[in-house]
Amino acid sequence: MYNRITTYTTICLIRFLCYAVGVMIITIASFKGGVGKTTTAVHLAGFLSKKGKTLLVDGDPNRSSSDWAAAGLLPFSVMDEEQAGAEARNFKHVIIDTKARPDESDLKELAAHTDLLIVPTTPDALALKATLKMLATLRGINVVNYKLLLTMIPPPPSHDGADAVELIKNSQLPSFKTQIKRYASYKKAALQGVLVGEVRDRSAKTAAAAYEQLAKEIL
Ligand SMILES: Nc1ncnc2c1ncn2[C@@H]1O[C@H](COP(=O)(O)OP(=O)(O)OP(=O)(O)O)[C@@H](O)[C@H]1O
Ligand SMILES: [Mg+2]
Repeated sequence: MYNRITTYTTICLIRFLCYAVGVMIITIASFKGGVGKTTTAVHLAGFLSKKGKTLLVDGDPNRSSSDWAAAGLLPFSVMDEEQAGAEARNFKHVIIDTKARPDESDLKELAAHTDLLIVPTTPDALALKATLKMLATLRGINVVNYKLLLTMIPPPPSHDGADAVELIKNSQLPSFKTQIKRYASYKKAALQGVLVGEVRDRSAKTAAAAYEQLAKEIL
């Protein structure tokens, strides 16, 4: 309950304070945990910070974004909901990372106070099922400002990515063209407290380019 009050009330406050100054607010949310919300939030914030002052609001009580930022190596500010309420209007972009499993009223508030709701999902059956449930909930509360993002797509011979793309297409669900593949570099980036492009390994640049493409698709 405490977290619900701080996170969702603060998001309303951020929207209210930012409305007049034209801040773009993007929220990342999913029913299922571990689908790449924090990784997406951190890398989108990383790219957007090249375009203007960017704030990542850590709305997850696990504080994963704050842990990632703790080494002080990220090129944007990370604040918890309480700090962010007063500061958000000083930024051009605000990205909100959230905890898994928001309930219907959480979702309603998140969507109402955000310009874009990104719903990451991995392409496996269980995650897709949870995502379809979430989208049904969104439809039930008349939310339309959301887009699906496929994440952690395994390399061939797995067909999970292609199967998920087909399901999304056949179901006419709004989704990003950009897809995020599975690369070990993302885990290393979180451990080192840096953006994935800074990691020293073979796939780091390709992994960074995927989120850059996503940010361009959004802008
Ligand atoms: N594209 C990817 N390829 C490989 N590993 C990834 C990828 N994206 C995220 N990961 C890893 O998967 C795990 C879960 O990712 P992340 O923490 O971003 O998910 P989350 O949805 O925020 O989780 P939670 O619901 O617990 O907050 C982390 O270990 C992260 O490093
Ligand atoms: Mg997270």
